[in-house]
Amino acid sequence: MNHAGILGTGSALPEKVITNFDLEKMVDTSDQWITERTGIKERRQAAPTETTSLLCIQAARKALEMAGLQSSDLDGIICSTISPDMPLPSTAAFIQRGLGARSVLAFDLAAACSGFLFAMTVAEQFIRTAKARYVLVVGAELLSRWLDYQDRATCVLFGDGVAAAVLGPVTPPAGILATEMHTDGAFAEHLYIPAGGTSKPASCETVRAREHYIKMRGNELFKVAVRNLEEVSRRVLVEAQLKPNDLDLFIPHQANQRITEAVRERLGLAPQKVFSNIHRVGNTSSASIPLCLDECVRSGRVKKGDLILMSAFGAGVTWGSALLRW
Ligand code: UT7
Repeated sequence: MNHAGILGTGSALPEKVITNFDLEKMVDTSDQWITERTGIKERRQAAPTETTSLLCIQAARKALEMAGLQSSDLDGIICSTISPDMPLPSTAAFIQRGLGARSVLAFDLAAACSGFLFAMTVAEQFIRTAKARYVLVVGAELLSRWLDYQDRATCVLFGDGVAAAVLGPVTPPAGILATEMHTDGAFAEHLYIPAGGTSKPASCETVRAREHYIKMRGNELFKVAVRNLEEVSRRVLVEAQLKPNDLDLFIPHQANQRITEAVRERLGLAPQKVFSNIHRVGNTSSASIPLCLDECVRSGRVKKGDLILMSAFGAGVTWGSALLRW
């Protein structure tokens, strides 16, 4: 069995910044409310000409460069997204074409904010069993396209962004040590887009009723998020026979700074061991964890041998953790 790890990371953010003060002019909200309740100060918004796949290709090129690989070296491409270029075909197909990669196994994976970790777990299996050597995993969201800028409960939270990682065989002790992923559909309608799928195809009525936008019961999700993030984080540490104190870095999904704080406290982690960039990019769903990771790697925050825990929670609901040694 091969041991899989991350060989390179890269990210791409749209240039346009939307501050809390910009949102004050659009909905009945305030910088104070958003800052105190979420920790977010600003987020990015893609230009009309930018697509999910275009940003994916930019991020992927950077990740390949860091890994010292060419797109032709890739044996697989997994794009985690709930905001694809279009319903058909997959965004992964556009990434494969744009990168000039070979005709490899390339597909989209939908697990919302947990999607990057789900995709990483899938990629790991191919590498472990030597079915693939190098797999590109991208977490990509242009959620601004699904946001209702009349709904203050959601439009202040989410931002656009993309980040990629190239996975491949590594020499122990480096690599992915443990992963655990979950989905529980009991809370499916707590965070969803009601129309545009087979249960409610697009019609003039669905557009008039604003049913193509994200709807969220945030308050109820909050408690589930904190509980599930703590539990799954503890379980992967136990699986690897390690303790929270052994961690050098904890990267939680950036949904809300208060969720991050609550999970940090429950795990008994020092504040400096927890990374956050939510104030600058908001909640970027499946791009959130790889954006943090890329920032940590490029700034030197992550060093060889560091023990990193990444934990995610999102619509579905989905949640999971991955523990890796850099
Ligand atoms: O990434 C996927 C996973 N995401 C999550 O798990 C999100 C988890 N939930 C959250 O992060 C938080 O619940 C939110 C940030 C979404 C909301 O914060 P909250 O502290 O739970 O607020 P709330 O929903 O309980 O609303 C409190 C009040 C309400 O007013 P009333 O009913 O008390 O008068 C809301 O209408 O805040 C109001 N409110 C706002 N006020 C100003 C909601 N959104 C806003 C806003 N600006 N943008």
